[in-house]
Amino acid sequence: MTGRETHSPDPPSRRRILYGRRKGRPLRPTRQALVDRLLPRIRVPVPGRNQAVAAAQEGTLDPLQWFAGPRPFASRPAAAYRAVWLEVGFGAGEHLVAQAQAHPDVAFIGCEPFLNGVAAALARIDRDGLNNLRIYDDDARVLLDHLAPGSLGRVFVLFPDPWPKARHARRRFISAATLDALARAMAEGAELRFATDDPVCLRWALSALIRHPDFAWAARSPADWRQRPADQPPTRYEQKARAKGAAPVFLVFARAPRTARQGGASAQNT
Ligand SMILES: C[S@@+](CC[C@H](N)C(=O)[O-])C[C@H]1O[C@@H](n2cnc3c(N)ncnc32)[C@H](O)[C@@H]1O
Repeated sequence: MTGRETHSPDPPSRRRILYGRRKGRPLRPTRQALVDRLLPRIRVPVPGRNQAVAAAQEGTLDPLQWFAGPRPFASRPAAAYRAVWLEVGFGAGEHLVAQAQAHPDVAFIGCEPFLNGVAAALARIDRDGLNNLRIYDDDARVLLDHLAPGSLGRVFVLFPDPWPKARHARRRFISAATLDALARAMAEGAELRFATDDPVCLRWALSALIRHPDFAWAARSPADWRQRPADQPPTRYEQKARAKGAAPVFLVFARAPRTARQGGASAQNT
């Protein structure tokens, strides 16, 4: 993805730059209506990167609380949720919505800063009346900093923007800092599922994950990284990659048991 760079007002030590587009073509009126009507009902109440951050809230928010209030689709039955799963960069939401349909006992959060993708996902959520899905239409790194330790039972990072040129390496989503934030927010044993068809992005992510002390690779044989997990439908980018003849790779890492130093976090069901 190419495009503008916008700067956050965070202090220099926390400054993040979001690479990529926030908006594409103007939305059709029906999509704009969904952004106006549905998005405010299912948007997670965490400040975006250009809003003031309540420091006291950082690292404390239990995402399950966002599913406890009135249901966005009141005519659909209430459910009890056993875990919270996050998808980073859901694109147009095909995979996110399919997972939310397949797991009505899991609460889903989808992060996507590209408005046209969010609007496409809203159309699917509205069509299916999904109560178990909330949207953060901003940088996933900001959301991660707000979540309580151990609050995520699974995280998907599927076909992130690869940024294959060496001079763009710092733009890649997977980094030591992001893995620290993910490790903090994930429960013990929670899976981090990553996929890419880009060899540079793969080497980069695999190397960062293997070096990180809080993640362990679950692969036992080549089939474990050559084949998409059976319970994971393909994303739009995977389909594009296969149409071009590429062979995507799927990494499943587990969040390691917490050490005494990390304390305070109770594992939840994953
Ligand atoms: C190459 S697309 C893949 C979309 C989808 N996962 C798929 O496989 O079809 C990468 C997506 O990540 C989003 N993205 C980039 N940086 C992000 C960030 N910091 N937080 C959340 N999403 C991000 C982009 O807007 C884009 O939609």
